[in-house]
Parts: sequence; C-alpha cells; structure tokens
Amino acid sequence: MEKGKLIYKLREFHILEVYQVDFYNSQIKSLEEPHIRKAFERFVIREKEHVNYFSQKLKELGSSPLKVFPPAFAAAGFVTGKALDLLSLKERYKLGISFENKAVEMYLSFIEMSAKNPELAELNDRLWYFLIDEEEHQFWFKEQLSKIETSKV
Ligand SMILES: [Fe+2]
Ligand SMILES: [Fe+2]
Repeated sequence: MEKGKLIYKLREFHILEVYQVDFYNSQIKSLEEPHIRKAFERFVIREKEHVNYFSQKLKELGSSPLKVFPPAFAAAGFVTGKALDLLSLKERYKLGISFENKAVEMYLSFIEMSAKNPELAELNDRLWYFLIDEEEHQFWFKEQLSKIETSKV
C-alpha cells in the first residue's frame, strides 16, 4: 500500500475511534443503571486503546492525526454533544448498533486492503483484534435492545 494511502486510512480510523470514545464517554453521566454504566466505561477504555494505536502508527510514519471531523461521518448520522442527552436508552442502543456496524464495515475493508501487503502484517493483526472488539460492542447493544423489546411484550 502506498504510504499516502496508508496515512489517509490511519487518520480515518483515528477519527472513527475518537468519535467512539466521545460517543460513549458523553453518555456515561446520564446512565443510572450500574451494569450499563460500567459497560460504557469499559467500551471507552477499549476505544481509547484503539485511538492510541492509530495515533502511534501515524507517529511512526512521521505523520499525525487529523483534528477535523470529516463530512462523511456527519453524513452517516454520527451525532455529537447535546443531541445525545435527549436520547432514550433504546435510541442509544440503536445508535450504538449503527455506529458499530459502520466501524465493523470499515474494519473489514481495511483488513482486506492490508492483507495484500506482507509488511503490514502487524497492522492487519491489530485490525482483526479491533474488529472483534467492535463486534463485541455491537453484540452487547443488540442483546440489551432485545431485552428491552422482549420485556415490553
Ligand atoms: Fe474502536
Ligand atoms: Fe466500538
């Protein structure tokens, strides 16, 4: 993979992960149920690990993360800040699922791209691990959502 393209991808993933940290972090204070709050706290720890990895990679390549939120993310429905305070638990789970779906989709494509380059083997391994973290988040939200939905029947 050409260096410029690699930097572009790493920056894109760095932003995706910063977004995920903010998304979960901004909701913690309004979550009362300890099990759910602890889950979000745990997600934040994982997402920070992802952020740190991508910023470290960019540093190794003599580059740095972008500070600007790309328009493509806003178009995908990524909301921030105040808008999140107004969400019900069910809506939070649904949003969580849609963001994690997006993350999983992005990881799968980067995994495929990097698999063709033997010199990116370490990155490729990491992408697989992070993909599995995102899938765990996705499954957790789906499970919680189905609990809410079945309890109302
Ligand atoms: Fe992540
Ligand atoms: Fe995640």
